[in-house]
Amino acid sequence: MSNQMFPNLFSSAKIGNLELKNRIMKAPQSTGMSNKDGTVSERLIRYYRSQAAGGSGMIIVEYAYVDDIGAKSAHCHLGISSNEHIPGLAWLAENIRESGSVPGIQIEHCGRQKFLGTQPICGPSAIPWPKLWNQYGVQAVPHVLTIEEIKDIVSAFGDAALRAKMAGYELVEIHGAHGYLLTNFFSPHTNHRADLYGGSLENRMRIYVEIVRDVRSKVGPDYPLTIRLSGTDYEPDGFPIEDTIELAKVLEKEGIDAFHISGGDHHTMIHQVSPMAIPQGHHIEATNAVKKAVSVPVIASGSITRPEMAEEIIASGKGDFVGLGRPLWADPEWAVKAEEGRPEDIRPCIRCNEGCLERTFYNYQAITCAVNPIISREGELDIKPATVKRNIAVVGGGPAGLEAARVLKLRGHDVVIYEKDTLGGQLIEAAAPEFKADIRGLTKSMITAVNKLNIKIIKKEATADELKGYDAVVCATGSTTVKLPLPGGDLPIAVDASDYLKGKKTVGHNVVMLGVGLVGSETALQLSEEGHAVTLVGRKPTIMKGVAVTDFLAYSERIAKTDMTICTSTTPLEVVEDGVMVEYKGKVRKIPADTVLYAFGAKAKQELYEELKAQGKEAHLVGDAVFPAKIMDAVHTGYRLGLKL
Ligand SMILES: Cc1cc2nc3c(=O)[nH]c(=O)nc-3n(C[C@H](O)[C@H](O)[C@H](O)COP(=O)(O)OP(=O)(O)OC[C@H]3O[C@@H](n4cnc5c(N)ncnc54)[C@H](O)[C@@H]3O)c2cc1C
Ligand SMILES: Cc1cc2nc3c(=O)[nH]c(=O)nc-3n(C[C@H](O)[C@H](O)[C@H](O)COP(=O)(O)O)c2cc1C
Ligand code: SF4
Repeated sequence: MSNQMFPNLFSSAKIGNLELKNRIMKAPQSTGMSNKDGTVSERLIRYYRSQAAGGSGMIIVEYAYVDDIGAKSAHCHLGISSNEHIPGLAWLAENIRESGSVPGIQIEHCGRQKFLGTQPICGPSAIPWPKLWNQYGVQAVPHVLTIEEIKDIVSAFGDAALRAKMAGYELVEIHGAHGYLLTNFFSPHTNHRADLYGGSLENRMRIYVEIVRDVRSKVGPDYPLTIRLSGTDYEPDGFPIEDTIELAKVLEKEGIDAFHISGGDHHTMIHQVSPMAIPQGHHIEATNAVKKAVSVPVIASGSITRPEMAEEIIASGKGDFVGLGRPLWADPEWAVKAEEGRPEDIRPCIRCNEGCLERTFYNYQAITCAVNPIISREGELDIKPATVKRNIAVVGGGPAGLEAARVLKLRGHDVVIYEKDTLGGQLIEAAAPEFKADIRGLTKSMITAVNKLNIKIIKKEATADELKGYDAVVCATGSTTVKLPLPGGDLPIAVDASDYLKGKKTVGHNVVMLGVGLVGSETALQLSEEGHAVTLVGRKPTIMKGVAVTDFLAYSERIAKTDMTICTSTTPLEVVEDGVMVEYKGKVRKIPADTVLYAFGAKAKQELYEELKAQGKEAHLVGDAVFPAKIMDAVHTGYRLGLKL
C-alpha cells in the first residue's frame, strides 16, 4: 500500500540494478568511532545497527581511507586500505543488513584536508588548507603528487572498491566532494598544475575519470557505483556549478549510476555542514541542475531536516533520493516515524553543530548530538523500566525539564510538569530570530512528546509547599538574566534583551545593544537585518563569545552585509534618557539611542532547590539551573537524570 502522507518518499527506486525500498539514504558521516588502525569497533557496530533499524532504504557508511600513505584524514577514521580491514567491514555490512537496511560505503582520499596534520599531506599543488596552515605552518603544505603517485592513488580507489564488494557492500560511493583530494584537483583554487592534471576543465577532471574507470574495471559493469560531488566549492576562485554539470555528464558516460550532490569544502564549511543561519535545503538547486543534465538518479543532500521537504524534493523531480546526515543523528527513527505518518514525533536536527561537527572536527572526540544523547552511546544509555515506580514533579518546562519528564515517564514513573510561564522555556527567546527558526521545530517536538505521553502540565509557579506530596523533585528551573548593573539601568529606555525577544517589550529605531556574547550579538544582528540602526557595545575585544564555530562564520558574513556599528573594548558607564555613556581608551562619550538593550548573561535559578534540600526533600538540578549553558547541556542532563531516578 502506498504511503498516504509521503507517497513519493516511500516509493521504491533503483540505483543501477539495486532496488531500494524507499528514497531515504543515510548520508556518509565520519563518527570518530573506528579503532585507531581503521578497523571496525564494536561501538561503530552498535551505532550502525541503530541507524539501519531506523527505516532508511540505504546506509552509506562513512568515508573510508583508500591507502596507507596520505589518504587517512582524521583520528579513528575508518579504513579500507588493506585486506586486513575486510573482516571488520564485512561484520559491519552484515549488521546493517540484519538491522533492516542495505549497506553501501564511501571511499576517500583526504588530499590536503588532513586533520591529523602529519605528513605526507598530498595534493595537486603546494597550496595548504588554511586551517592546517594556521595550526602547523609549513608542515601543512601538501607534497605535490607526481604522475606516478597519482596513478597509485587511482589504483588504490579501485582496490578499495573491490574490498567493499568483497566485504558485502551493495554499493560504493566515491568521495569526490568537500575539499578532499578529488576536489583539490577539480578546483582551480587548489590546482595550479601545468601538466595533464591541471589547467583545462578536461585536465582537472582527469583523476575522476581515471578513478571511475579503475573502479569499474575491478568491481565489474553491474556493481552500483555513485559519486559525491560538491555543486560548487564556494571559493572565489573555485569551480562553478557549470563545471560540475560537465563533470557529471562525463562520469555518467564512464558508468556512474547516481550522483550524490552536496556543496562546499572544509574551508567553506558553512556551505557543507550548514548551520541554522543558512536556509534549509541548501543544495537543492545544484541537485536540480545536475539532474537536468544526466539521466541516472540524483541524490539531494544538505539540511533536509523535515520529511515534508524530502517529499517535495522527490515529488517535484528535483532529486530522486535524499541523503540525510545530521537529521538521522538527531533522530535515528526519522524514516520510520515519517513512514508511519507521525512526522510530529521526529526530533529535528537544529543544525547547531555543537554535538557533532564541533566535537569531531575541532575536538577529536566521537560524535554526539545536542538533542539526542544516545547517538554514539547505543546500548549504554537505553531507557529501561524503573525498578520502583515513583511520583515525581518536574519543575520547569524548558528543554531540561521536558526531556527529564519524557524519560521518567517512559520508564514508568508518574510525572507532572510545573511551568509558570511558557513550555519551552528559553527556547522561545532562542528561536526568536528568523535565522534560528530551526529551534522552533525542536520546541514543538519536545512539547508534542510530553503531550503524547499524557504528562500532566500544571500551569503555575511551584513552591516548596506545593511539592510536599512528591517522592522526588527535578528542579529544571533554568536561569534568570542578570539585570543591568549600571546607573540608569531602571530608566524606561533600558530593556532586557530577553524581554524584547519574548515579545514583552518593543524597541525604537536607534538601538544600542550592550553585551557582545551570544544573545547580544545575535539580537544585534537580528535588529540590523530588520532595518534598525544598531550599535553593539562590549567590554571584550571581540564579539560572539559562546557562539558555535559555524554560527560564528555564518553570522560574520551576515554582519558584514549590515550597517551595524561594533564598539569592542568599550565600557558602558551609565544609561541616560537618550542613550548610553561609554568609555573607550580613556575618552567618555554618549551613544544616542531610543532603546538600550542589554544581555549581561544569566544566573542559575536554584532557590527552590535550596529550599527543598533544606527541608530534607529529594531534589535534583538539571539544565541551566546547574549552570547557565546551552541546549545540549539541558537535554543531556535532563536525559541522564531521567535514567537515574
Ligand atoms: C536569547 C537566547 C538565545 C539562546 N540561544 C541558544 C542557542 O542558539 N543554542 C543553545 O544551545 N542555547 C541557546 N540558549 C540557551 C538555552 O536556551 C538554554 O541553555 C536552555 O533553554 C536551558 O534549558 P533549561 O530547561 O535548563 O531552562 P529554561 O529554558 O530556562 O527553562 C526553565 C523553565 O522553568 C520555568 N520555571 C522556573 N521556575 C519555576 C517554578 N518555580 N515553577 C514553575 N516553572 C518554573 C521557567 O518559566 C522556564 O520555562 C539561548 C538562550 C537565550 C536566552
Ligand atoms: C561530523 C560530520 C562528519 C561528516 N563526514 C562525512 C563523510 O565521511 N563523507 C561525506 O561525504 N560527508 C560527510 N559529512 C557531510 C554530511 O554527509 C552532510 O553532507 C552534511 O552534514 C550536511 O547534510 P545534513 O544537513 O543532512 O547533515 C560529515 C558531516 C559531519 C557533520
Ligand atoms: S548536534 Fe546539532 S547539528 Fe549535530 S546532529 Fe545534533 S542537532 Fe543536528
